[in-house]
Amino acid sequence: MLLWPAYSLARTCGPQTPRQTEGPFFKPASPRRTSLVERGAPALVVTGRVLGKDCKPLANALLDFWHADEEGAYDNQGFRYRGHQLTDAEGRYRLETILPAVYVGRTRHIHVKVQPAGGRLVTTQLYFPGEAQNARDGLYRDDLAMRMEKRGAASYDFVVA
Ligand SMILES: [Fe+2]
Repeated sequence: MLLWPAYSLARTCGPQTPRQTEGPFFKPASPRRTSLVERGAPALVVTGRVLGKDCKPLANALLDFWHADEEGAYDNQGFRYRGHQLTDAEGRYRLETILPAVYVGRTRHIHVKVQPAGGRLVTTQLYFPGEAQNARDGLYRDDLAMRMEKRGAASYDFVVA
């Protein structure tokens, strides 16, 4: 009987996650939290893992998320819809939030900075498959589109050096 190491299951991790501009609305020192929802149930739950180039899950990787609110605006005074977290021992993260609204010139997206412990920071953006505006947004990329598993449940695995 062959016993595969756990990380062999992650062979589909694919190429490295592409970098994208952070845009004008990043703010350092976001609160540490996995839920950005202020009341009620989250409309969107994003889960996934942070993987190394060799596809091994990376524990204690930093993820710092920020996105627009229900009106398509960013909170530049406080920290609404901003939060950072660390991956667990299996490299997993979980973000509970709302569906960010589209705003002028952009399709629906979530900004994120990902940094493995002791590794290089990757700034990028996640997209929603099937959005009408994707084709009109020059920043949109298929390889940054989340997998929608069911209504409100999305997933994305980051691959970082
Ligand atoms: Fe944005």
